[in-house]
Amino acid sequence: MAYSFAAKLTGVSKRYSDVTAVENLDLEVKKGEILGLLGPNGSGKSTILKMLLGLVKPDSGAVNVLGVNLMDASLALKKRIGYVPEGSYVYEFLTGLEFLDFAGDVFQISLEEKKKRIEEFLKALDLEGRESDMISSYSEGMKQKILIISAMMHKPELLLLDEPLNSLDPKSARIVKNLLRKLASQNVATVMSTHVLEIAEAICDRIAIMYEGRLLALGTMEELRQRAKMPNSGLEDIFLELTGTGDVKPIVEELLR
Ligand SMILES: Nc1ncnc2c1ncn2[C@@H]1O[C@H](COP(=O)(O)OP(=O)(O)OP(=O)(O)O)[C@@H](O)[C@H]1O
Ligand SMILES: [Mg+2]
Repeated sequence: MAYSFAAKLTGVSKRYSDVTAVENLDLEVKKGEILGLLGPNGSGKSTILKMLLGLVKPDSGAVNVLGVNLMDASLALKKRIGYVPEGSYVYEFLTGLEFLDFAGDVFQISLEEKKKRIEEFLKALDLEGRESDMISSYSEGMKQKILIISAMMHKPELLLLDEPLNSLDPKSARIVKNLLRKLASQNVATVMSTHVLEIAEAICDRIAIMYEGRLLALGTMEELRQRAKMPNSGLEDIFLELTGTGDVKPIVEELLR
């Protein structure tokens, strides 16, 4: 099916009783781009990712993913998406290999292809030799790598990654970054959340700054820097303020002007 963007949210809002998790969000994810959702805790990042996956239904607005309106989405769409949720959602009492084998079966990858891809990914992410150990014996970073592999091994067209690099050491983070760039060059779109500005800056083509469910600013790092030209502060300062305990009101007002 022909479609011009990887995903598009139009006028999307989501409330949880008295909390507005996402408010009137318009956001387009381009094909082959790595889009970062940057924002403090509770700013709506995970909710956006869950809405893109169809795990959370918006109260209003429309979500289109890979040319499919999520209201009409079927299981076929899920096969075209890879998702790494926040927190470790791995089965502790399987080995890494068993978990990946299971993930491959869920996505109906052929036996031969599955074996090949698992081997390649284990090697790329430095897990070779540990695949037959129980996941319960893995470090947080190793668990995260298993999740990342399970989200990528079926060759999705859209990757939704919730804080994917959190527990990874610099070397592993770099490997994942390179993997994402390679996938982007093959037209795979990625939406990833982070509250670390350096990560967004190092990996993402464009960054969406979220605050209290609202999209404050969207653009390349360069565009955001230009936009944030406030007396005596760069984007780093602004973002630190947003994520810290400082008085954020004037900054929010400035960005919304
Ligand atoms: N299932 C839920 N029930 C009630 N409130 C929720 C639920 N999920 C999210 N929220 C609320 O919605 C808001 C946005 O949450 P969300 O998880 O999207 O934030 P986030 O930006 O991912 O934060 P973090 O950086 O901590 O992961 C928060 O105020 C949160 O408490
Ligand atoms: Mg979150």
